[in-house]
Amino acid sequence: MAGQSLNDSLVRWPSKSLTDIPYDLFTSKAQYELEKEAIFKGPAWHYLCLRVEVLNPGDYVVSHIGETSIIVVRNEQKIIKAMVNRCAHRGAMLCQKRRGTTRKFSCVYHAWSYDLDGNLTNVAFSKGIKNQGGMPGDFKNEDYPLRRLKITEFCGLVFGSFDENVPDIETYLGPDVSAKVKRVLNRPVKVIGRNTQVLPNNWKIYMENVKDSYHASILHLFFTTFRLNRLTQSGGIIVDESGGNHVSFSVLDKDMSNKAYEEDDVRSDNSKVKLADPNLLEGVDEFGDGITLQILTIFPGFVLQQVRNSLAVRQVLPKGTDRSDLVWTYIGFEDDDEEMDARRLRQANLVGPAGYISMEDGVVGGFVQRAIRGVTEDHSIVKMGGEEANSMESRVTESPIRGFWKKYRALTESFNL
Ligand code: FES
Ligand SMILES: [Fe+2]
Repeated sequence: MAGQSLNDSLVRWPSKSLTDIPYDLFTSKAQYELEKEAIFKGPAWHYLCLRVEVLNPGDYVVSHIGETSIIVVRNEQKIIKAMVNRCAHRGAMLCQKRRGTTRKFSCVYHAWSYDLDGNLTNVAFSKGIKNQGGMPGDFKNEDYPLRRLKITEFCGLVFGSFDENVPDIETYLGPDVSAKVKRVLNRPVKVIGRNTQVLPNNWKIYMENVKDSYHASILHLFFTTFRLNRLTQSGGIIVDESGGNHVSFSVLDKDMSNKAYEEDDVRSDNSKVKLADPNLLEGVDEFGDGITLQILTIFPGFVLQQVRNSLAVRQVLPKGTDRSDLVWTYIGFEDDDEEMDARRLRQANLVGPAGYISMEDGVVGGFVQRAIRGVTEDHSIVKMGGEEANSMESRVTESPIRGFWKKYRALTESFNL
């Protein structure tokens, strides 16, 4: 169409295959609008916050689903509620603070106020002044609540959805992924740190990255150099039936040989460098199963991380076609002692925006985004480990990425804008 840039069109997939991923999925504005409706307002569960962040009546957190600001609050009856952070009057952002404790939400614009269930409780000057002005006689506060969301809680994680028909969370995750969430989040947690990282790329490029066990020991030199994660370690990949959720895990390297990496000409020389303070990598087998690394994702944008004793949840938030926010919350357990607190904080240096084993992810997403600008004729090749999106023992695979696209296609291709 005249005057319309190519990237304003919906994306056409070259085939039914999950191995050819069109690059304009990451740049098309029309596709981004489709995602807002089909995924972010669709039958999916979106991570909002931790239970511990809204523990007492009146405790609230402002979170997001897609680009929509959401208030999560515990009401007077101690039930967690979530509603859109947008005043019912003329749409002002109601709550400006990131978190806190309150008895009501009051809009700064014209002072309409709402209780902790999102009911409109007061309209300033609703009766007018001196019998003049004011709202019409048939105006009822109860007709104008904040827009409410469906909520669920799983292992201390709070999820929300705009879609009443979303399946229950354990069905949504499948039994194997559910079990791996339970493995880590097996008792009450506490927050030990936060940061938000601005990514110079589409949200889906980050989700591909975090599901990509192929790159980890190649891109992140720290991993191989200090033998934290190598593809020669034993472990496995789980992809749930829907494709959207995955787990990658590995156990500590017993085979310290460098042979596989040398044979494939992968940068992995570990003979000369040593950490001045090896304490950074000193870990304890706190879950009793020898698994030192477990990365788990829930569709569309949630990550649960265990890297040694560094535990964190990550929330990926789209901010337009070529930018996203990655919100990190570092956690420990309520019953951690001082030594464990210190260990978790020390190991938190491994991850995050400047993490020894994660800083390259922010950069490489930008490399992709810059190289695919304006490209509508080409696609990536996601064939490592076959063409399916199945679970497997080998981590030399892109199976979880194919799973992401399987779920993505199921939601977006059946949706009529
Ligand atoms: S926009 Fe909130 S009170 Fe008017
Ligand atoms: Fe990475």
